Amino acid sequence: MSNRNLIDITDLTLAEIDGLIDTAEDMIANPAKYQSACAHKQLATLFFEPSTRTRLSFESAMLALGGGVLGFSEAASSSTAKGETVVDTVRTVSCYADIIAMRHPKEGAPFAAAQRSEVPIINAGDGGHNHPTQTLTDLLTIHREKGRLDDFTIGFCGDLKFGRTVHSLVNALSRRTGINFVFISPEELKLPQYLKESVLEKNHLAYQETDSLEDAIPRLDILYMTRVQKERFFNEADYVRLKDTYVLDPEKLIPAKEDLCILHPLPRVNEITVAVDNDPRACYFRQVKNGKYIRMALIMLLLGLRAE
Ligand code: CP
Repeated sequence: MSNRNLIDITDLTLAEIDGLIDTAEDMIANPAKYQSACAHKQLATLFFEPSTRTRLSFESAMLALGGGVLGFSEAASSSTAKGETVVDTVRTVSCYADIIAMRHPKEGAPFAAAQRSEVPIINAGDGGHNHPTQTLTDLLTIHREKGRLDDFTIGFCGDLKFGRTVHSLVNALSRRTGINFVFISPEELKLPQYLKESVLEKNHLAYQETDSLEDAIPRLDILYMTRVQKERFFNEADYVRLKDTYVLDPEKLIPAKEDLCILHPLPRVNEITVAVDNDPRACYFRQVKNGKYIRMALIMLLLGLRAE
């Protein structure tokens, strides 16, 4: 059986992404139209790694579509703890659910699961690799905040090496026009070489790398802050040394554009102070809300459903 999965953001065409954004906008404006769209359908959320936003927004999305939800939020409460493989877990759950959202610490685990699943698999984050539904959330947010998905300068700041949300969003934006990429990180957390070569340089896209947020900020239209991820480090001393490299506070925003859009996939630790939260340029909690609607649209697309 051939399912429609979302493992990598490039599994969706540009037209499909634009269609998801249009559908999400309609869902925000007319939620009642979609309240029974997934009646009698079940979403399973299989989270082998911690999550607040992704798991709960998927569940909230399915409930808003009139469907049901089941799943687990940690590997320890599933038969994984008894040695069951991811593939066997997914084959089992696909007997109970119509679609599966899966997060796993191992890169490629959702891809492997999709090879044996009877139902569509959505990658809800695999290790330091990809996070395509966060990218859909980011694109909807950029579209809502800036009114376009082309022609802007975006700065990615923080952990660009292990930041799966960065990797997926760079991939998605590389297919748009007029995007200038600025990568702001310490030397140890630079964007992986494979992404520079296979996505940016292959497509002749211009990018700059710097370690200075202060130097970059005045020219940015969008600033995508990220957390230095403790869970990806092998060495605690390296994490402690790098974790507070960038801290965005009101003073650093003084030279920024008045219509700067500040994004962050969240959770944050210290990299954006709470004093920034009331700045109208802080879009990250609106970004969280958008995550529910774009996931509603995605569930419908992968299940082949249309609103009545
Ligand atoms: N953005 C994101 O993936 O957040 P969670 O880890 O809380 O799901």
